[in-house]
Amino acid sequence: MKKLSIAIDGPAGAGKSSVSKILAARLGYAYLDTGAMYRAVTYEALERKLERPEDIVSMTEKLDMEVKPDKDVMHVIVDGKDVTPYIRTPEVSGHVSEVSAIGGVRTAMVAIQRKQAEKGGIVLDGRDIGTTVLPKADVKIFLTASVHTRAVRRFKELTEGHPEMTMEDVEKEISRRDYLDSHRDISPLKQAEDAVLLDNGDLTLEGTAEAIIHICRSRFPGFDA
Ligand code: CDP
Ligand code: CDP
Ligand code: CDP
Repeated sequence: MKKLSIAIDGPAGAGKSSVSKILAARLGYAYLDTGAMYRAVTYEALERKLERPEDIVSMTEKLDMEVKPDKDVMHVIVDGKDVTPYIRTPEVSGHVSEVSAIGGVRTAMVAIQRKQAEKGGIVLDGRDIGTTVLPKADVKIFLTASVHTRAVRRFKELTEGHPEMTMEDVEKEISRRDYLDSHRDISPLKQAEDAVLLDNGDLTLEGTAEAIIHICRSRFPGFDA
């Protein structure tokens, strides 16, 4: 059986990265968290205090970005430095949608993503995988849940490090990012025509992974997980 390329798109807190990791481990596939790449560019732009899109693009084009899968989390190495611990702060989350709306930033990231995916046997999660990065992916899932459900999930994760954030703040921040990501001109967050819509509001992470494996089996008889 050939190794599939699996695209998982959807809004923040849908469970994309958690489910992608479960799938990749179970299938023995690679995993690429494309959101982490946009977060790393955003972190670097903030560090260098760059605001103008053209400056952010020229910085991005010169970055040496490496992605390294690990057991738990995908590491992003920028110019030799592992920036993974710094890319999920509220500050980066608050700027990432603006940075990732810049065309030149997307062109550079998409090139790296396609290169990683060229041999198949990979699960990619993001916003534009099924529509732009891999329009010919073998299996495309659009994973979602209500804004409230997603905010509750994120709130649980965040409260430890940031007790100052309220549930309302988290829900607002997620809605804002969903809006910006869905309304940008280039590669907006959107379900690909041939993607399967999966609302996992009532599913566990394991249940969601199982549902996706079921979809792979129904598309590719002989697919074994
Ligand atoms: O995990 P969470 O949903 O909070 O976000 P993420 O997947 O880490 O993505 C962070 C941001 O990167 C998103 O809100 C998008 O603005 C951007 N992104 C994108 O534009 N295209 C992708 N393929 C992945 C992420
Ligand atoms: O990558 P994305 O932003 O789509 O979501 P995530 O970071 O994988 O998931 C956000 C949080 O929701 C994590 O803490 C997951 O464990 C949790 N989650 C859950 O408990 N049940 C689900 N069906 C999906 C996500
Ligand atoms: O360089 P060239 O124009 O031949 O290739 P590209 O722009 O990288 O990709 C051509 C088309 O194939 C685009 O629609 C890509 O999105 C798609 N593609 C894909 O579906 N899967 C890949 N692994 C690479 C490209």
